[in-house]
Amino acid sequence: SRVDVDPAAYEIGEHESFMHAEMLDQPRAAERVLRGRLDERFGTSHLGGLNLDARELRAIRRVKILGCGSAYYVGQMGASMIEELARIPADAEAASEFRYRDPVIEPDTLYVAVSQSGETIDTLLAVQEIRRKGGRVVGLVNVVGSAIARECDGGIYLHAGPEVAVASTKALTTMFLAFSLLALQLGRVRDLSIADGKRLIAGLQRLPEQIQSVLDRDGELEEVAQRLAEADSLFFIGRVRGFPVAREGAQKFKEITYRHAEAYQTSELKHGPLALISEAVPTVALVPDDELVERNVAALHEIAARRGPLVVVTHEGVDLGDLSAAPGTHRIDVPRNEREIDPILLTIPLQVLAYHAAKHLGLDADKPRNLAKSVTVE
Ligand code: G6P
Repeated sequence: SRVDVDPAAYEIGEHESFMHAEMLDQPRAAERVLRGRLDERFGTSHLGGLNLDARELRAIRRVKILGCGSAYYVGQMGASMIEELARIPADAEAASEFRYRDPVIEPDTLYVAVSQSGETIDTLLAVQEIRRKGGRVVGLVNVVGSAIARECDGGIYLHAGPEVAVASTKALTTMFLAFSLLALQLGRVRDLSIADGKRLIAGLQRLPEQIQSVLDRDGELEEVAQRLAEADSLFFIGRVRGFPVAREGAQKFKEITYRHAEAYQTSELKHGPLALISEAVPTVALVPDDELVERNVAALHEIAARRGPLVVVTHEGVDLGDLSAAPGTHRIDVPRNEREIDPILLTIPLQVLAYHAAKHLGLDADKPRNLAKSVTVE
């Protein structure tokens, strides 16, 4: 379509595919979206493109995030961050649903449209409907001058660079970081302390290197991916901060491997999915070292008791008890950052797993069947 990057004009050098090149560019993309936007002295962010002064930021009573596909899932991650840091009620909704349900538009809500291409028709029409009703919309958009960027009242450009592979990797990571910058600023005009602001900034500054360290474990992840690729059906589970990560992981896996991958809240396992767990159905579980860690580990025991193979994405030091010794369990420790930033580090290995599973199955990860990079027509 008209918004696709011309692959011929985009150098990927030695890389085997666009998705591979884009995944590995994430540490640099993270630096680009943060560059010039961190205010270390005052523990906040500079976001000139938002076109909102402190008084206007302070008047926001609710945040509503809209996007499709990965942009929607990262919107859910962003909503958690905004609620935690700014204590403003925030939620994300699929733009494709929002625009059809005659939504109530409120003057003191900040609407956030999230889109790599800036051309996704459902997101664009949601933006137009909000503005028609007098709502204020900011865009988190990658492609400069795209339709969504032009329709918004302001925004944060992602500077991810061109993304060609259908499955979003570096655009998603920069979306997450743009949300961190927005949440930081919304927090700092409210009750988030300067010390907390500085703590987050330090976390954001060490993130590119931590992303790199996950990408460096390619060989280990490839082995796990090859095992997962053998299954016809998989679950991805997480809760609270980990649930949108599970949704994104399942989406990536299903779209490029054509395996059935379903995301579920870990807390809801006993209300359905446990009936399907068996040796043939692996579960990829997000178990960050947070206030829910013990409950999450207890849920893993329910799965192991039904002989379900487990891939546990967690932090060093999390005690999995006797699960660690179980032959069907594989553990992937990601580096710790600040708890608000951890979701993006939990996301990276899921991209790598999906990528290697597709490759193992002989599939072209860049061009999954029936899917387009940008859905610009109804
Ligand atoms: C398509 C792509 C997804 C992407 C979504 C939204 O479904 O396959 O990878 O997340 O569109 O695209 P956008 O350009 O608006 O971020």
